[in-house]
Amino acid sequence: MLHRLKEKWNVSWTRFTLIFLTFALGGSACARLGNWLLSFVLTEKNAWYWIIYVPLITILWPLCVLTISIPLGQFRFFTNYLSRMGNRIFGKQSTKTKSIAIFASGTGTNAKKIIDHFKESSVARVGLIVCNNPNAGVLNIAADNHIPVVMVNRKSFLTDTVCLDELTLHKIDLVVLAGFLWMIPKYLIEAYPNKIINIHPALLPKFGGKGMYGENVHKAVIEAGEKESGITIHYVDEHYDNGDIIFQAKCEVKYGDSVSTLAQRIHALEHEHFPKVIEQIIKG
Ligand code: GRF
Repeated sequence: MLHRLKEKWNVSWTRFTLIFLTFALGGSACARLGNWLLSFVLTEKNAWYWIIYVPLITILWPLCVLTISIPLGQFRFFTNYLSRMGNRIFGKQSTKTKSIAIFASGTGTNAKKIIDHFKESSVARVGLIVCNNPNAGVLNIAADNHIPVVMVNRKSFLTDTVCLDELTLHKIDLVVLAGFLWMIPKYLIEAYPNKIINIHPALLPKFGGKGMYGENVHKAVIEAGEKESGITIHYVDEHYDNGDIIFQAKCEVKYGDSVSTLAQRIHALEHEHFPKVIEQIIKG
């Protein structure tokens, strides 16, 4: 049961222990404080005692838990936790945490930034990694963060619905392509209309299309003598780098830039903006 709770909160065992400690210390501090405050107005534990005690500790509990969470470094977790609880109790519109699937087959630096960004968020979390490369760095990132992985091969990805079944099973709301080189098949696009987004390391519509990925893009930008490049986040349709543009950010192409210096600048832009744009999309 503890294991399931840990998975649900998506935290390491160390953090899980600290969270548990916060619950325990907060609960006991709350009971003691409630007793102490009541001792000023009531001397014996009669019916009045309990009538006042229950609502009193209901108010004190979040305050105590939040206070204890500060020195234990768990304040963000508990503010999210209490806000979710409040929404449930007071029947606020459902704020179900959305689930993101990241499709990646490379190093996964963007995937890591997205995972970290949503780690303690009540807006969304990364619930699945889809990968087509058994040597991809993103697989280690998934393992470190206890995120399930689905490995796909081209034939099954294009023809079967294995991938879609997994997305459904993991209740995925948004698909994020972060370094996934295969075209997304029609059945997935139809199943997730306007719910699949991609990041491209240049300013589309220029320098996009088949074969325009990784270093090829930066090489083409430099060879074309462009003065600026950037990133494009866009919806995915059945053509490479073609869907509606959601966001772009620019950077300079400096005199003497190599593919690698430009790639570094572009990566920095991606890491800065991609998680925030995803959050905006989810919040609608
Ligand atoms: C990024 O540059 C992205 O624009 C492109 O693939 C690259 C993935 O990089 N679609 P990483 O694996 O996230 O480092």
